[in-house]
Amino acid sequence: MTTVTNYGIIGCGMMGQEHLRNIALLPGTRVSAIFEPDAEMAMQAQALAPGARLCSSVADLMATEGLDCLLIASPNFRHLEQMEEIARTRPLPVLVEKPLFTDPAETARLAAFRDSYPAPVWVAMEYRYMPPIAAFLKEAQAATGGIRMLTIREHRFPFLHKVGGWNRFNRYTGGTFVEKCCHFFDLMRLTLGDEPVRVMASGSQAVNHQDENYEGVAPDVLDNGYVIVDFARGGRAMLELCMFAEARATKRR
Ligand SMILES: NC(=O)c1ccc[n+]([C@@H]2O[C@H](COP(=O)([O-])OP(=O)(O)OC[C@H]3O[C@@H](n4cnc5c(N)ncnc54)[C@H](O)[C@@H]3O)[C@@H](O)[C@H]2O)c1
Repeated sequence: MTTVTNYGIIGCGMMGQEHLRNIALLPGTRVSAIFEPDAEMAMQAQALAPGARLCSSVADLMATEGLDCLLIASPNFRHLEQMEEIARTRPLPVLVEKPLFTDPAETARLAAFRDSYPAPVWVAMEYRYMPPIAAFLKEAQAATGGIRMLTIREHRFPFLHKVGGWNRFNRYTGGTFVEKCCHFFDLMRLTLGDEPVRVMASGSQAVNHQDENYEGVAPDVLDNGYVIVDFARGGRAMLELCMFAEARATKRR
């Protein structure tokens, strides 16, 4: 007898659709239900998962028969409230996109969720599973005998457009250094094998999104900065971020 794992997907924009394509590559899987409030995105998701039922809310999705696990790929500020709703109704194993929450005032709610949720929850910090990162860590460890200082530099293009422009605002994303850079802080912890004890940072919105306006409100996400993180056993790491570096690629002759 073949066992099929049935997925329910909450939020199916760019990342949800990438997950749909990846789930389709896994044998023994089926996407049974999708909740995606934007009509255009829902149509794209349905094209990728024609067998899935399109649902009108998280509650509607949770009522789908036979669900085995859930994936949350909604905007960041929805993650915690949606995990809490799932906990109240049907606590299935969840893969939730990063970041888990956006406001430090929500820490106690997250801790309560962590302490009571009866099924596995996996946060999509997938950089740590990328083969080049694993190879780099192995080589660097062997070459140095233990890394004490680490610099991560990202020079890249500005944030892409997202449904409703949610990624233009600190209150929806948690801020650039949460939305974008949580992957890098996770890699610092992994590389140094330690936990941070002190953070120093400086950043600004120097260039990006300054001519944009969402119902009269201007974007406030930072586009550059330096962050220094001290770790408990004396290691330290630095992040350099520049998000107005579109032309960073070397020209080919
Ligand atoms: N792991 C990674 O490397 C990675 C990369 C990109 C994005 N992400 C994360 O994935 C999530 C989605 O980002 P995205 O780039 O797909 O954005 P997106 O705007 O393309 O998609 C988000 C979707 O959620 C829908 N949505 C809005 N409100 C909702 C609600 N209440 N419930 C369910 N869906 C709702 C929107 O209509 C939209 O289609 C974010 O948390 C983002 O941080 C992770």
